[in-house]
Amino acid sequence: MIIDVIAGARPNFMKIAALYAVAQEFPALQLRFIHTGQHYDFKMSDAIIQQLRLPEPDCHLGVGSGSHAQQTADIMKGYEKWVDEQHPDACLVVGDVNSTVACALVAAKAVVPVAHVEAGLRSFDRTMPEEINRILTDSLSQWMFVTEASGIANLAREGRPLSGIHLVGHVMIDTLLRMLPAARPPADEPLQEGAYAFVTLHRPSNVDDPAILATLVEQLVKVAEHMPVFFPVHPRTRARLQAAQLWDRLAAHVRLTEPVTYTESLWLTKNARVVITDSGGLQEESTVLNVPCLTLRENTERPVTVSAGTSTLIGRDWALFQRCIEQIVTGSYKRTLGQVPYWDGNAGRRIMAILSQSA
Ligand code: UD1
Repeated sequence: MIIDVIAGARPNFMKIAALYAVAQEFPALQLRFIHTGQHYDFKMSDAIIQQLRLPEPDCHLGVGSGSHAQQTADIMKGYEKWVDEQHPDACLVVGDVNSTVACALVAAKAVVPVAHVEAGLRSFDRTMPEEINRILTDSLSQWMFVTEASGIANLAREGRPLSGIHLVGHVMIDTLLRMLPAARPPADEPLQEGAYAFVTLHRPSNVDDPAILATLVEQLVKVAEHMPVFFPVHPRTRARLQAAQLWDRLAAHVRLTEPVTYTESLWLTKNARVVITDSGGLQEESTVLNVPCLTLRENTERPVTVSAGTSTLIGRDWALFQRCIEQIVTGSYKRTLGQVPYWDGNAGRRIMAILSQSA
């Protein structure tokens, strides 16, 4: 069975790497790596692909940035041509980015069965573009591979057939566990293990409104009174900080750098005193690594990271945020309750085994 494996934006590469890592055990499945080009900066794409030892893409659509409609349409046009010419037996998409929904829609209309890895996650917040992508992709998918139990309930509520829903664990955690020995600090950064805050922010809801962004900047300046703050800046966030003339204010208190590579991100997460983020993946990675995580969002599609893990949803409750920082400084912040079921490094293997049954 020939399976097109779609990846385009930064976190997708870590996820598909878990499938490639076990591919040799499943000779009936032939994986073809389709890179949509949604992310294209070296540090957002090629550097990660190299670190993960992924193969060269079989197809690079090279779409680049654009509005949602533009980007989604460009991916669809490029992938439709590939599907028409190359006839995959299945299309596997991961996560919730525009590349995910675009390729799922093309495949479904070409009557190519779709597998969705990280299915069933719901924030119940349709102002998030990712929530729209998740709902649509799941509704088009024949195989729905779920990371945490909440996903099963969400899919069942939407009437998806139970026979297509598989709780398999989390491919991103497979890759984390495999790559942890390769974790490296960013070069020439004087960071002490367990002593700094690691910050990532890129959600439109946090960075696109200058007033909200200004509040976030002031909160991070306050954190810097307690510990060094290290913040690799996503291209979207860099542009917004500069446009709002907030860059210099933040840079006076916080170390701002280029995006980091995957092995650097692993090291930064593992050794942080606290992770402050709006990323979905980092909420989960901090839970596995038992590092406190303050999630700067009103909701999460990954509730297990709050109920059993180390994450606290901060929303815009800055009193709660500063209280959590105090708890972290004094060592009284909650720890993880233990391993999330199936987050054991074998999700990729489970997915490939299920797909093999259809080969
Ligand atoms: C996308 C995903 C988001 C994911 C994030 C991970 C969607 C809707 N959003 O958000 O779910 O969490 O990736 O990083 O798919 N840019 C560059 N270089 C790049 C890529 C982007 O400079 O390599 C800049 C461009 O100005 C672009 C902007 O960043 O317009 C946003 O990129 P885009 O892929 O549209 O969304 P992200 O914010 O990265």
